[in-house]
Amino acid sequence: MIRLIGFSVMVCVISFSAIAQKKLRIDDALPPELNPNMAPFYHGVASGDPTQSAVIIWTKLTLESSFKKDITVSYKVSETPDFKVIAQSGKVNTTLAKDYTVKVDVTGLKEHTTYYYCFYYKKKRSITGQTKTLAENPTEMSIAFAACSNYEWGYFTNYRFIAENPKIDVVVHLGDYIYEYAPGGYGDTTIGRKHVPAKEITTLQDYRTRYAQYRLDPDLQLAHQLKPFVTTWDDHEIANNAYVDGAQNHQETEGDWYERKHAGKQAYYEWMPVRETPEHELYRAFRVGNLLNLIILDTRIAGRSVQLDSISDPHFQDVDRTILGTDQYQWLTQQLKSGSKWQIIGNQVPFGPMYTGAENNTKQVYMDGWDGYPAERKRLIDWFALQALENVVWVTGDYHASFAMENDLTGTKDTSDNVSVEFIVTSITSANSDEWTDNQAELDAEQAAYMANNPQLRYLNGVDHGFMVLHVTSEKAEAQFYYASDIRTKTGKLRLEKLFTVLSGSSVLKE
Ligand SMILES: [Fe+2]
Repeated sequence: MIRLIGFSVMVCVISFSAIAQKKLRIDDALPPELNPNMAPFYHGVASGDPTQSAVIIWTKLTLESSFKKDITVSYKVSETPDFKVIAQSGKVNTTLAKDYTVKVDVTGLKEHTTYYYCFYYKKKRSITGQTKTLAENPTEMSIAFAACSNYEWGYFTNYRFIAENPKIDVVVHLGDYIYEYAPGGYGDTTIGRKHVPAKEITTLQDYRTRYAQYRLDPDLQLAHQLKPFVTTWDDHEIANNAYVDGAQNHQETEGDWYERKHAGKQAYYEWMPVRETPEHELYRAFRVGNLLNLIILDTRIAGRSVQLDSISDPHFQDVDRTILGTDQYQWLTQQLKSGSKWQIIGNQVPFGPMYTGAENNTKQVYMDGWDGYPAERKRLIDWFALQALENVVWVTGDYHASFAMENDLTGTKDTSDNVSVEFIVTSITSANSDEWTDNQAELDAEQAAYMANNPQLRYLNGVDHGFMVLHVTSEKAEAQFYYASDIRTKTGKLRLEKLFTVLSGSSVLKE
């Protein structure tokens, strides 16, 4: 393995022909089995953050046998896959400082239109990507939600199912797109999908290498090739249980936290088709006419206070403990008054109150979720009630299980005080609770206790891996829970297991 810095030193001391002979790569992240037909765009293409007139398109160059500081790439965008009529085209530079990733914010596009795009470097051409702009004022929209895609735990078959579903307009990834652990540090590596680099990632080059590995996965590559993504990070894009000033999985021996956080964020912005704003905040919204406002939160890095260990901590109810932070809270309340019929909130960790078990006769909660930040949540829910806000749907990742629940403040079956509904999306691959134990009786008891302790829950599946599609019209929002039958082989089949409907104005789940 040749480190990037080592390579740049080597070009000073050995001849150009020697480099060509050795076929040195700029990038040390890549396994030897690269598809030569894709050179130098081995990592495919991606698109994201669509609006009614613009979309981000992305690719990455990996060059062999030559090295230039700046590389110019050209791109073409067309309404047809044969590119006979070009809608937009141009040139863009990329450098080592961007890990030779390429991002273009293509503007001047038509609303609700499918576009095809590709990149060129010299005579080489990338695969063709397909994307779609948002509609100005549609009567319906289908959004797929995905979360928690650990490479080691299984094949990304669920991403392929998303790619193959023609009804999905946009894919929202709620975070844990990568995991930071060393091989076997969290995943089960028995099917041979082992993390690279073979260490916990802490530096910029480490994070870049990990993204490069994930983005060579053919199922993930296909999903990015065929669908526009809207992504946000959770904790594992940097380190487990991250917050503004640290993370459970960051130790002093691993260097400075802020440098590590900066490295993780930089690699994320390089590798994900995310529009970068001057404020450099990841929370953002996509208004889709009168139908819906898609609000994407950052409950990790923007304003989260440190997690406490238990609800007995004397600071548990402190009003200055936040999961959003002041600026994002203000921004969210503005977004919730968008005027669109539905407020769809893409959110990392469970919002609604939920008991996870009991210790010493005291009910426990998930301290890394909104349950760990009760003062800020109450402030928000009180504001919901004051505004008589309707049609708020939370869609949440992080939890590695599927839930459907109504958000009320009293934890009862009485639906009159519901303020919103929430769907928790299971993982693409990351371990559900059944993958940590063979004790079926214990699992059944755990699931039964969840349902008994949480009357606001309408559904729980703690076994399957998949994604959720939210189909929204002005009359209703329908959540469709899809699962792969198997992620430990490549032969998993797709099934639709559960449907829930929320009628406009109700905040009540109907099967
Ligand atoms: Fe996760």
